[in-house]
Amino acid sequence: MTQKKFPYVQNNPFVLDMKPGRYAWCTCGQSRKQPFCDGNHESTGMYPVIQILEQPTKVAWCGCKSTENPPFCDGTHKKFVNPS
Ligand code: FES
Repeated sequence: MTQKKFPYVQNNPFVLDMKPGRYAWCTCGQSRKQPFCDGNHESTGMYPVIQILEQPTKVAWCGCKSTENPPFCDGTHKKFVNPS
């Protein structure tokens, strides 16, 4: 059975059209601006994953927080039967 790496947020990716820029993908699950960091990780000891996008692109940001290729969805979420 696959183990979750970070606190669970949702069982599918956040698929978003992105502009070029620097993005901080939330790993602690506490952000209210999922899938991105809003600074709420301060008391968790966890830190966001920084991703720089060089050009406009559609991104599937991992929502289950257990991808093997953070911050992107790699399909790992499909292994969770009861993701609570
Ligand atoms: Fe996490 Fe797809 S949402 S691997």
